[in-house]
Amino acid sequence: MLQKGSSGGGLMRDRPGALPSTFLSQLQALEKAYLHHSDPAEQSGFYGGPERWRAEREPILEAISADGELLDTGCANGYLLECLVAWGRERGVSLIPYGLDQGARLIELARRRQTHLADHFFIGNAWDWKPPRRFRYVYTLVHSGRPGPIGVPRAVFAQVACPGGRTRRPAHRR
Ligand SMILES: C[S@@+](CC[C@H](N)C(=O)[O-])C[C@H]1O[C@@H](n2cnc3c(N)ncnc32)[C@H](O)[C@@H]1O
Repeated sequence: MLQKGSSGGGLMRDRPGALPSTFLSQLQALEKAYLHHSDPAEQSGFYGGPERWRAEREPILEAISADGELLDTGCANGYLLECLVAWGRERGVSLIPYGLDQGARLIELARRRQTHLADHFFIGNAWDWKPPRRFRYVYTLVHSGRPGPIGVPRAVFAQVACPGGRTRRPAHRR
């Protein structure tokens, strides 16, 4: 699904008043599990090997036709952003990466991987994150599309995507 960015409006009803502790514990456990690995894709929760990594992640660029900022909401260690920037360059598209994740240690890793872009990586929970700016492209791969607090609410996309910008979720998670 490819959506045009919007200005928000009624979408904020998706947001709960407070984030349940079970949800926050699940996210903490996720970070701990990722950090057991040294492979950068595995630190992003992907265990299919490098060929499948590229085969499954490069299609994200099909939604991207021009240069711009790309926010990965749930960026883990930032490896996907690094790959998308490199793959985009091969296609003649210049992307400026930004990442948000709830895991402070994952964001620390992302900043260490790309020290020159350290201030492009934010620690925060998408449910109550206040984006410092808007982004032309916004991507996410977290549990979504079901009622309840797991995942990134559509309201977040409405707040962070430029009007007319694009948001994308992988096909198998829609
Ligand atoms: C499967 S990884 C995705 C990594 C990378 N974006 C990709 O597509 O390969 C999901 C990441 O989303 C983060 N995450 C899940 N829910 C989140 C939320 N509500 N706010 C911020 N980060 C979240 C997790 O901490 C985890 O690092």
